[in-house]
Amino acid sequence: MRTRLSGQLSLDDIEQTVALAGWVSHRRDHGGVIFIDLRDRSGQVQVVAAPEAADAFAVAAEARNEFVLSVVGTVRRRPEGTANPDLPTGEIEVAAQRMELLNRAEPLPFQLDDDEISEQVRLRYRFLDLRRAQMQAALRLRHRILGEIRNFLDQRDFVEIETPILTRSTPEGARDYLVPSRTRPGEFFALPQSPQLFKQLLMAAGFERYYQIARCFRDEDLRADRQPEFTQLDVEMSFVTEDDVIATMEKLMRQVFHNVADIRLPEPIPRMPHAEAISRYGSDRPDLRIPLELTELTELMKAVEFQVFAAPAQSPAGRVAALAVPGGGSLSRAQIDQYTEFVKQFGARGLAYIKVNDSSSGVGRAGLQSPILKFLPDETLARILERSGARSGDLIFFGADQAAVVNQSLGALRLEIARDLGLVEAGWRPLWVVDFPLLAWNEENRRFEPQHHPFTAPRADHLDWLESDSGRVLSRAYDLVLNGTEIGGGSIRIHQADLQRRVFAALGMEPAQAQAEFGFLLEAFRYGAPPHGGIAFGIDRLAAMLGGVDSIRDVIAFPKTQRAACLLTEAPSRVDGKQLGELGLRTVKARGEGEASS
Ligand code: AMO
Ligand code: AMP
Repeated sequence: MRTRLSGQLSLDDIEQTVALAGWVSHRRDHGGVIFIDLRDRSGQVQVVAAPEAADAFAVAAEARNEFVLSVVGTVRRRPEGTANPDLPTGEIEVAAQRMELLNRAEPLPFQLDDDEISEQVRLRYRFLDLRRAQMQAALRLRHRILGEIRNFLDQRDFVEIETPILTRSTPEGARDYLVPSRTRPGEFFALPQSPQLFKQLLMAAGFERYYQIARCFRDEDLRADRQPEFTQLDVEMSFVTEDDVIATMEKLMRQVFHNVADIRLPEPIPRMPHAEAISRYGSDRPDLRIPLELTELTELMKAVEFQVFAAPAQSPAGRVAALAVPGGGSLSRAQIDQYTEFVKQFGARGLAYIKVNDSSSGVGRAGLQSPILKFLPDETLARILERSGARSGDLIFFGADQAAVVNQSLGALRLEIARDLGLVEAGWRPLWVVDFPLLAWNEENRRFEPQHHPFTAPRADHLDWLESDSGRVLSRAYDLVLNGTEIGGGSIRIHQADLQRRVFAALGMEPAQAQAEFGFLLEAFRYGAPPHGGIAFGIDRLAAMLGGVDSIRDVIAFPKTQRAACLLTEAPSRVDGKQLGELGLRTVKARGEGEASS
């Protein structure tokens, strides 16, 4: 149907006869001559239909935006003064001899070059939205990322193996999507939250190096960087230590970033213990582009009389910390109030602050301004200034509460303020976060939960504490964080049934329950499972970062909304009673809402 692609024509093709096909992206009728920008996957070129070529002219006259045409014509240089320097094909045009109308298009619900279209509309008409240049570029970029990944791993003896979608629940901390079984009424498959268990079984099966571009399903609260269905690069290796996995994956990431986006990541990527990340940034995925750090004040505040600070400082689970903001002295009362409201969403009860008007030596409290000055002795104020490094014109915020509340609120405040004040530096700042605790205490459920998942190996030298002091045990996990986003995470795994049972027990799981849920894994460990470990990267997050977009929805062809629905196909949708009956299900009216499946 065609001999050339529109976007690839150039001055080299002058006087060539070419056959093109594509969509009308613009049509201009200049009284007597019709100009059509013909777009295909490579770009676009200007086609000129003159009345002399009567049949072609008739088609051009009828054509409208997004009609599908084929064109046969001759490439020629555009007349003097009409070249378009913004377009790769801007110096030439194609004089149409023949033109065929391959398909019509109804008037579009939105113009493709409109940048203000709501996401609702874009998702509803995704097949049109995807025609836009930025979406074409985003999905092609994603394709190149996957290509680089496959190349790299193929060269290193990794085998791509698919694992089941209809399976048992894999505990990655989210709710499961369930699929009812028709053949076994009342029983359900769970869609995998990750291929975690299967990749470990593949190590027991002797593959040694596995990978998969794997779809994962998690029913959790959605955000810009979370979808209910997302894609991982999932990797597992046998006979490795954490350094082996980290080194191989670092090479992979460096190659992907370099070949896809010409970005050079630091070599080696720095590592930071989890405790240090929390202490300095209040977060286990610190954005290192922001040159602000928390200042530890817990010890210092133990002895002050101001109970807002002293009580959390004295509490074993409490923390008092400060965040010094360069230039923050110019924040207005209203802005400070807004930040106070901001931290309340993380449970903070207030946001004390001190403005540093003059920090020169000898000025002391006279150079400071704050409602809490009267509660703090000179010596304490001097130490706060010294430790936080605050200078004239700065402002110091304080958090005092349960450590988790302080970390979350000051950690988030650090990001918020840095964005507001333009303190985020340019560049790519990856970081391996290591030495995570194995378990995290869940105050609500009053029990330990895995910090990652229950198959993560504890550090060998911490095994003795597993029963006696579980919270103190560090794991062999590692996360790769880039500019404040967790793009990957993994660990060395447990490969011995005894240790796996002990970890299940530390998680409060009865032996019978562990056997019922993970018996197959414990069994595999009994038949010579090798030491193994691995990692998974969020492909959507990687593609969004490399594509420079804020939401992973912009790098997924058919994403779901924040409410986990597809506006295009209108999934999820009701099914008829017969289908439910076959599955042994019926719907009941949920109180207060419409109907829900049960
Ligand atoms: P984890 O749960 O950390 O690890 O997931 C790995 C990476 O997947 C991405 N990710 C998501 N991306 C989009 N939407 C989501 N809802 C979502 N959830 C996670 C993140 C994350 O770093 N089985 C383990 C890996 C292992 O131990 O090997 C796992 O799934 O970028
Ligand atoms: P109050 O004594 O409640 O008036 O608080 C004095 C100052 O301390 C105000 O600026 C509050 O915002 C702040 N504040 C109160 N509770 C906390 C807290 N838990 N952490 C940090 N600042 C707080």
